[in-house]
Amino acid sequence: MKVVAGSASPKLGRRVAEILGVDFVEPEFTTFPDGELRVQIPEFRDELAVLIQTTYPNNKIIELFLLQDALREMGVKKIITVVPYFGYSRQDKIFNPGEAISARAMAKHIELESDAFIGIDLHADSILSWFSIPTMHKHATKPIAEWLKERKVDMVISPDKGGFKRAKYVAEATGVEFDYLEKTRLSGTEVVIKPKNLDANGRRIAIVDDIISTGGTIARASEQLREQGAEKIYAVCTHGLFIGNAMENMKKVDEFAATDTIESENSKISVAWVFAKAIEEMKTKILKS
Ligand code: R5P
Repeated sequence: MKVVAGSASPKLGRRVAEILGVDFVEPEFTTFPDGELRVQIPEFRDELAVLIQTTYPNNKIIELFLLQDALREMGVKKIITVVPYFGYSRQDKIFNPGEAISARAMAKHIELESDAFIGIDLHADSILSWFSIPTMHKHATKPIAEWLKERKVDMVISPDKGGFKRAKYVAEATGVEFDYLEKTRLSGTEVVIKPKNLDANGRRIAIVDDIISTGGTIARASEQLREQGAEKIYAVCTHGLFIGNAMENMKKVDEFAATDTIESENSKISVAWVFAKAIEEMKTKILKS
C-alpha cells in the first residue's frame, strides 16, 4: 500500500503516509497552455493505493479523476479514495426545480474508479447513501478537542441547532459543557443569530462548526458571546474555506483554527491520524472482500 495525494492535499497525504509507515508518492502536476491539467505518477508497483484529494476548488476534482485513471493504468487493483473536504456537499437536495443534487453527482463520479471511500465531517450522512462501494464517515472531534484543551476552554457552543450534536461530542471529548445558538441564513454571506442567554460571563468559549466559509456565522455568534461577557472566544472548524470577508470576520475572535482538510496557513489541527486509522480498517475490509 502507498499513499498518493493530489495537489489539494500534499501535507495531509504525507502525514498520513508517515503515520501508516508507508511510502508517500508525489505526482507531478502540470497545466497545458489551454488550462487543461496533466498528472504523472512516478513508478507505482503496489496493488493498493490510498488516494487523498480534497475536491475543492473545481480543478482539484478533475485532478482527482485523472489520478484515479493514472493509478488504474499503472495496474492498481484497489483504490481507497479519501476526500478530506468534499466540495459540492452542501447542495444535497433540490432547493429549486431544475437543480442538480450536486453531492450525489460527485459521489457517483468519485466511485467510478474507487473501491472504497472515506470522508470526514461530511455536510450530511446521506451523502454516503449515494455510494455503492464501502464507505466510512469519520469525525474531527478528538483532534479539535485536544486543541481546545490546550487553550483551557470551558464551554463549547454550536452556532446553529443543526450543529448541536457536533458541539456536544466535541464538548464531551474536551470535558466541558455545551450549548447552541439559533441561526437563520439570510443570504450566502449574511446570517442572523437569535439572542439567547448563555452562561458566558468570564468564560473561555469555543464556537465549533463544520465549515467556516465567509466567517459571517462565527462573527455573529462571537458578538453574542462578547455581549454576554465571554473572557476569550475561540473559533474552530473542520473545513476552513475562509473566503470573501472571512479574515475580517475572524478578528472578532481571540484565536481560530481549522483542520488540514483544506490546507492553508489556518489549518493548525491535523486529522491525519483519524484518516490513518480509518484507512487501516478499510484496507482490512476491502482486502477480505
Ligand atoms: C452551515 O450549515 C455550516 O455549518 C456553517 O455554519 C456555514 O457554512 C458557515 O458559513 P459562513 O462562514 O459563511 O457563515
